[in-house]
Amino acid sequence: MQNTLQQKCKALKLANVPFYYREVPFDEPEQYLIDLFEKELRIRQAKRIDKLIKLAGFPNSKSLEDFDWSPVTLPESSSKTELAELGFIDRFENILAVGAVGTGKTFLATALGLRACSKGKTVRFFRCLDLANTLLESHRQGRLKKLMDSLGKADLLIIDELGFVPLHRSGAELLFNVVAQAYECQSVIITSNLKFGEWNSVLGDNRLTTALIDRLVHHAHILSFDGPSRRLSQALSNLKDANGLDEGGENET
Ligand SMILES: Nc1ncnc2c1ncn2[C@@H]1O[C@H](COP(=O)(O)OP(=O)(O)OP(=O)(O)O)[C@@H](O)[C@H]1O
Ligand SMILES: [Mg+2]
Repeated sequence: MQNTLQQKCKALKLANVPFYYREVPFDEPEQYLIDLFEKELRIRQAKRIDKLIKLAGFPNSKSLEDFDWSPVTLPESSSKTELAELGFIDRFENILAVGAVGTGKTFLATALGLRACSKGKTVRFFRCLDLANTLLESHRQGRLKKLMDSLGKADLLIIDELGFVPLHRSGAELLFNVVAQAYECQSVIITSNLKFGEWNSVLGDNRLTTALIDRLVHHAHILSFDGPSRRLSQALSNLKDANGLDEGGENET
């Protein structure tokens, strides 16, 4: 017979309750139960978000609050607020973040992805080359359908860094399949430092490139990123600081 509180809670799928039920203030029974269950729901939601973030596979943790929009030119039909509210995901729209190196394309994609997870959305983040290789590997092992099904379940797919490394032809074809599968039923964010006219240099086939871009841009917010690389600016500023300190040090002696 399972009689302990822990066992009863487990049977009722309220496994967290024994850990916090003493912390919930008690005035009268109904209020106590409402507050207890409220806390249980909050804990479950937090655990679900953690799971979604792990599944997404983000390269780091970025917050939209820290993002500087100054390098970004938005189309007239989009706004910062609207993008941040994530309506584009419910409307199966895409974001194409295209432009200069080190201006925040990955930052913005990650921050939007994290926010989507916090709203309960399923997100998958891949560097483009990793995704192509994963698709190729799954294909070789006869597990491609399983992978495609799992990718198809995401609300938002993020494909980062299209353009740095040319893809193997079969990799490009498999990537096209991912975008075709997502068309009008999932949202995709792609970041690239290449202009659309240059994408065939990575995908290796004009027809495939045209068909891929066609599907991506049909319902898309095309964000153009401009300006100097923040990595370079930060490195130069660190160098200046270090020199400043050295000079200070020298001045002191
Ligand atoms: N607009 C921005 N706001 C805040 N931080 C930024 C911004 N742009 C770049 N950074 C910082 O600079 C670094 C590089 O940014 P990020 O990786 O997002 O650039 P990117 O555009 O994806 O570059 P690449 O084209 O090389 O992939 C990161 O540490 C990021 O935090
Ligand atoms: Mg990047």
